[in-house]
Amino acid sequence: MTTNDEMRPLHVGVIGCGYWGSKHVRVLSGLPGVEVSVIDRDDDRRRGLEAAYPIRASVADLADVLDDLDAAVIATPPLGHYPLAKACLEAGVHALVEKPLTTTVAHANHLIDLAEERGLTLMVGHTFEFNAAVWSLAEAVRKPEFGKVRYINSARLNLGLYQPDVDVLWDLAPHDISIINRVLDSRPTSVSAWGMELMADKPDVAYLNLRYDDLDVGACIHVSWLDPMKVRRTTVVGEHQMAVYDDMAEERLRVYDKGVDSAQTADQSQIPMSYRHGDIVSPFIQFNEPLGLELGHFVESIRTGTKPVVDGRSGREVVSVLCAAEESLRTGGWVTVDYDSNVIDLRERRSKNAPSPTAPDSQNDPQPSAGA
Ligand SMILES: NC(=O)c1ccc[n+]([C@@H]2O[C@H](COP(=O)([O-])OP(=O)(O)OC[C@H]3O[C@@H](n4cnc5c(N)ncnc54)[C@H](O)[C@@H]3O)[C@@H](O)[C@H]2O)c1
Repeated sequence: MTTNDEMRPLHVGVIGCGYWGSKHVRVLSGLPGVEVSVIDRDDDRRRGLEAAYPIRASVADLADVLDDLDAAVIATPPLGHYPLAKACLEAGVHALVEKPLTTTVAHANHLIDLAEERGLTLMVGHTFEFNAAVWSLAEAVRKPEFGKVRYINSARLNLGLYQPDVDVLWDLAPHDISIINRVLDSRPTSVSAWGMELMADKPDVAYLNLRYDDLDVGACIHVSWLDPMKVRRTTVVGEHQMAVYDDMAEERLRVYDKGVDSAQTADQSQIPMSYRHGDIVSPFIQFNEPLGLELGHFVESIRTGTKPVVDGRSGREVVSVLCAAEESLRTGGWVTVDYDSNVIDLRERRSKNAPSPTAPDSQNDPQPSAGA
């Protein structure tokens, strides 16, 4: 933006103002130099937000305000992300797209290309990468006293919320994948997935195994819409210490000076292991609302023309992992994650409604589900 542009407010439209989009509206309304418009097909949702916050424009259809926007947050159900983000970028509007960025790698590539060609900011809503507990976890794990990471286990469970257009892996696992990638500062090489269709015609309980070959580390993610307890927990097991990040606990991060060593024993009936039990440390974490940091970073990236830390490429990495997971669900084996592919994904090839396998911007783009 030019100096003159910096003088005027940044006009941000929130497209999809349901459960999560309404939080974007709340946070954006409190940011200095930002004016917010709401775009949602549901009149009642818009009316509720109009009553609560200073809203510049309130419309049902993006087309009615697109020309006037500087930036947009896309918080519709996932199948709407690509067509709406594409429309924004083509109109010269910066975009923050909720997770998952898209539901195919080809669509992610297309959004990245559009943003780069036009010099626009494209960011993805991997909110946990703005969570101070995740930063503390990454810091703890990298200390020499932690030792080499042996494996990571992550669980994201709850009763619901069942989503209309994607399965539980696409809905919940983006968070775990982005947290683990951030903690390890790496990305998985191959994945295997196992899911069950218990109350829906798509997996509502699933396990995802990830191999990080460069680090010789394995990770396991359990996601579920069918669990009595709300669980958001990541456990990292190291050579010398272990760490648990529990987003539902008061002390969200605990580092355990615990471990197991191989030991010599004369008693052949005993497994030769010795167990170490030491201190449990819960570091103080200065908490700022992650969504506030994320949106502040989005606005700052636009104003300064700098690349956001969680950009379109970060979003595409997670989409690539989920596409490989989907293939594994189908084939039952390990699948190498293809980070470079520009071909349309299996997901789309299998879809009866996607006759064009190569054109990400064809008329066959998935449309957002109505009123979802
Ligand atoms: N980052 C996070 O922590 C986080 C948390 C929850 C949800 N999400 C993401 O946010 C997105 C929305 O999830 P939700 O739970 O808020 O869904 P929701 O169903 O509560 O809300 C979606 C809203 O989008 C509107 N909508 C759909 N298509 C539209 C269109 N073309 N134009 C205008 N409005 C449209 C619907 O009317 C609805 O109000 C999803 O992508 C989800 O993955 C992210």
